[in-house]
Amino acid sequence: LRVYVPPHPLIKHWLGVARDAATPSALFRSAMTELGRWLTYEAIREWLPTVETTVETPLSPCPATFINPEVPIVVVPILRAGLGLLDGAQGILPLASIYHLGLVRNEETLEASCYLNRLPDQIDSQTHVLITDPMLATGGTTIAAMKELTQRGVNPALVRIVSVVAAPPALQKLSTAYPGLNIYTAAIDEGLNEKGFIVPGLGDAGDRTFG
Ligand code: PRP
Repeated sequence: LRVYVPPHPLIKHWLGVARDAATPSALFRSAMTELGRWLTYEAIREWLPTVETTVETPLSPCPATFINPEVPIVVVPILRAGLGLLDGAQGILPLASIYHLGLVRNEETLEASCYLNRLPDQIDSQTHVLITDPMLATGGTTIAAMKELTQRGVNPALVRIVSVVAAPPALQKLSTAYPGLNIYTAAIDEGLNEKGFIVPGLGDAGDRTFG
């Protein structure tokens, strides 16, 4: 498992805004959009497939690199909170297909269950998948999402996760289950409280985004 915390001032800035309990809902949504944008920008380095060709400048032929339109790119937002990161991700991946996945944690057992699944039955093994979910707490939600994806043909090595705050229990669980996974997050936090919330975290991202 590789976990990247990109040292970017914009990511730090919007993380601070998102963490602040005094941030109103409209600004919290802006922070999520910006975090989605910049973390996706970092996550698609050496991942987005390119193709080498040449173009004619007004003066001469010149080598050029373009995004390969033939490799399928998919963004999987984990409802609800992952929708907050989608706008920013989609802004820089305008050709990506969006496969919505609704997962909710039971407040007592903390077990994730699926209530909406828009994944196709089969997914091409070349498909590059970006999962957006701002909180990786116990890791149960991400594991459930990965199961749905891999049983349809997704190669876990081609999956990248865009998160905002990740807690050690989630990272431990994911490193055992999917050691080849790459995670991009704004912060690795201390741990979880007795209710399974990330501390210091940013509260309940779903509620702060949608009320
Ligand atoms: C929260 C959060 C993550 C998940 C993380 O979602 O947005 O998806 O819990 O927890 P885990 O790593 O322990 O599985 P929640 O179930 O509250 O749903 P919501 O996004 O609709 O608020």
